[in-house]
Parts: sequence; structure tokens; C-alpha cells
Amino acid sequence: MSFIKPFFCIFLLFHITSILKANTTPSNKAFNPYRIFITNRDVPKVVVGCDDLGANTLTPGNSMTWRFRMNFESSNAYGCRFYWLDDTTLGLRSYSTFTVFDESFTMPDLCGHNALLFTVRCYWLVTQDGFYFSNNNASFPSNQWQMMYGWTKV
Ligand SMILES: *[C@@H]1O[C@H](CO)[C@@H](O)[C@H](O)[C@H]1NC(C)=O
Repeated sequence: MSFIKPFFCIFLLFHITSILKANTTPSNKAFNPYRIFITNRDVPKVVVGCDDLGANTLTPGNSMTWRFRMNFESSNAYGCRFYWLDDTTLGLRSYSTFTVFDESFTMPDLCGHNALLFTVRCYWLVTQDGFYFSNNNASFPSNQWQMMYGWTKV
């Protein structure tokens, strides 16, 4: 029982923070345009499948991008599956699944807020070490890129 308490407090704190933020920034969140970029840095072949967007095969240097506007319900969410294929056998080497953008405050905060008319850009970089995020297309490696997720070997 006692170990549940800290988790509950953290949950509650997160919840209250979300409510406070929701009450302070409702108008500049709705309709704010976002653009997501996913760039393959050095993985020989990656297949990326994101909700509603179909599958893309990215070789090193390739990018995929899409744009959307945050709606009133803030219900935009994009979960993506990444498959690292062996470049000769095309067998699955590693995979990863995570949300590249969701309606929570985490991703909009990471990407940055902006005036209504300016597109907020969110950058993901796919590397053999894992998945890095930045709110600008900084050169890599640099401290602008934050490692967020790793690969799972099959
Ligand atoms: C990021 O910058 C690099 C180097 O200038 C460029 O080659 C690449 O196309 C840019 N990527 C995006 C998604 O803008």
C-alpha cells in the first residue's frame, strides 16, 4: 500500500498541472498548426507506419512530413511504428512503437508554442542508437537533440 502513495501523488500533481495549463492556454492551442518531420539519419532501411498516413520506407537522408492543426478537443494523436529491416535480407532486425505527437501537453510543450499563424515544427531523427527529438533542425549530434526512445531487437 505504501508504495502506491508516491505514484498517486505524482499522478495527482500531473493532473492538476494539466488542468491549470488547460485553463491558462486554451485559445492559442486550438488551431495552432504543427508540422512533424521524421528523418532517417543512418539506418539502412526503415519502414515507418503512422496512424492514417500509410507506410513510408526511409533510407538514410530520407524524411517524411505532415501538417495538421490542433483541434478544439486537442485530439490529434499520431502513433508510429518503426521497423528496421536488414538491407539485404529485408528481415526485421528491430522495431519501436511510440507516439510522435499526442494531445497531451508533453509534445506541444516539447515542440514549442507559437503565435496562431506560425507553424510549430517537431523533428524526429531516426538513428541506429535510437530516436531523437528536437524542436529545430539542429545539426546532429548536438544538445538540441534529445534521445527519447530506443530500438527493441527481435
Ligand atoms: C535539416 O537540415 C539538414 C542539413 O542542413 C538538411 O539536409 C535537411 O533536409 C533538413 N531536414 C529537414 C526535415 O528540414
